[in-house]
Amino acid sequence: MRVAFVASEAFPFAKVGGLADVVGSLPQALRRLGLEVTIFLPWYWGIEGYYVGEAWFNFAGQREKVGLGHAEHQGVRYVLVGLGDFARDRPYGYPDDFRRFVRFAMATAELVREFEVVHAHDWQAALLPLLRNLGWFSGRTVYTIHNLAYQGVWDSHEFYAWTGLPGETYYGAGLEHYGSVNLMKAGIVNADAVTTVSPRYAWEITTPEGGEGLDGVLRAHQGKLRGILNGLDTSYWNPATDPYLKHPYDADNFAGKALNRKELLAELGLEDRPTLGVVSRFAHQKGIDLVAEAVDGLMDLGVNLAVLGSGDANLERTFSWLAAHLRGRLAYVQGHHEALAHRIYAGADGFLMPSRFEPCGLAQLIAMRYGTPPIVRAVGGLLDTVRHWETGFMFETPDAGGILHGVREFLKHPDREGVAKRAMRQDFSWDGPAQAYLGLYRELVG
Ligand code: ADP
Ligand code: GLC
Repeated sequence: MRVAFVASEAFPFAKVGGLADVVGSLPQALRRLGLEVTIFLPWYWGIEGYYVGEAWFNFAGQREKVGLGHAEHQGVRYVLVGLGDFARDRPYGYPDDFRRFVRFAMATAELVREFEVVHAHDWQAALLPLLRNLGWFSGRTVYTIHNLAYQGVWDSHEFYAWTGLPGETYYGAGLEHYGSVNLMKAGIVNADAVTTVSPRYAWEITTPEGGEGLDGVLRAHQGKLRGILNGLDTSYWNPATDPYLKHPYDADNFAGKALNRKELLAELGLEDRPTLGVVSRFAHQKGIDLVAEAVDGLMDLGVNLAVLGSGDANLERTFSWLAAHLRGRLAYVQGHHEALAHRIYAGADGFLMPSRFEPCGLAQLIAMRYGTPPIVRAVGGLLDTVRHWETGFMFETPDAGGILHGVREFLKHPDREGVAKRAMRQDFSWDGPAQAYLGLYRELVG
C-alpha cells in the first residue's frame, strides 16, 4: 500500500508547532510496520533538496508549473513542492497564506495519483479530499484535524474567481460555511475518514463549546470521525541520549537531571527555587496570558518561571517586561530555539501548560519523558495523557486561580521525584498509534 502525507510542516525541515513533530515522525513508525509513506511538503526557502524536475497542474483553467525536489530524512522520502510563493523564511504569517496553501493543495493533488491513500493534515491540505471527489486523483482520503481553530476561511467570490474551481462545490461539496469558503469544513465533509489527535478532543469538537462553529458538521459526520492519540519520536526525545544535554539521565539513573537543572538555572540567571518551564507558541489557545496574570501569585508561592516562546507580540512584550523586573525569578527567551527547549524540558522541576483547549499536546508528553511533571489544564489531549497526582498535576479553570491551584498541588506533593519517574516510565512511542493508522488505511483500501 502506498500512502502520501500532505502537510505544511514536518520536522526537521519546517516547524512551527506539534504538527511538524507528528508529520516528521509518524511515517517512521509506519515504516517499521512495513508501510512506505511519502511526504509532500511545500519547498520553503532554505530546505535543502535535490531538484528533480517540474510538473504541471490545473489552476484557474490554465496549466501552471511547479518545481519538484526530493529530500530524505531517516529513510522517509519527501517530495518538495516548489511554488514561488513558498520561497520565504517561515511557513506562515503572511497575508496571502490562504492562497499559497490552496495552490499547494491543487499542485499536490496532481502529484499523488499513484497513491492508494492520501492523508491530508489540517486546513492547509484540506482541499485534497474535495479534489479527489472531483476526480483529480483516485486514492482513499484521510483528513486529520490537528487544530480546529485554524480553518482556512476566505471570501467565496474571490475564491472561485481565483481558483477556477466549479461553483457547484460551494454548496454541493461542503465548502460553504456561514457565507464564506471554509477549507476545514470541506476536508471534514469530503474525506473518507476524519481523525483528530486525541479521543477527548474528538468528543470535545462535537460540542458547541469545543466545535469552533463546526460542531454541527462534525456531529453529522461523527461516524467517520475518530481520535488517535499522538506519539513521540522517542529516540529523538530521549534524555539518555539527547545531544543537547550535558548530563544524560533516565528513570534509573536520575542524578543527571539535577545537574541539568543547575546548568539551566545558571544559563538563565535564575535563583535556586522550584522552577517551572514553559515552551510554547504564544497563542490564545495556550493560555500564556493567564500565566502573566498569575505571575504575582506564582512569585508568592516561591517558584521561578523559565519561559521560551514567541507569537503574539503583546505577550512577547509582557514577558520581556516581566523578565526585566523579576530578575532571578523569571527568565524569558523569545523565539524558536530547539536546543534551549530541550534544556528546559530536562532542567525544569515542573512544566506549565494552562491551555484553554489542546487537541493533543506534545509538550506535556516531552516534559513527562524528561521527568518533569506537567501542570496542565484538564482539557483535550492533556486529560488523556496526564494523571493527576500520579504523573503530573491538573487544574480545571482556565484562569490565574486555576494555575495557582495546580502549582500549589505540585508544591505540596510529598514525592515529586516519584511522580517524575512514573511519568518517565510511560510508553509515549508511536508504536500503538501507528498501528491504529495502519488499521484505518487497511479498512479504507480493503
Ligand atoms: P502546538 O502544536 O499546539 O504548538 P504541541 O504541544 O503539540 O503544541 O507541540 C509544540 C511543539 O513545538 C513541541 O515540540 C515544542 O517543544 C515545540 N515548541 C513550541 N514552542 C517552541 C519554541 N519557542 N522553541 C522550540 N520549540 C518550541
Ligand atoms: C496542533 C495542536 C496540538 C497537537 C499538534 C499535533 O498544533 O495544537 O495540541 O499536539 O497539533 O497534532
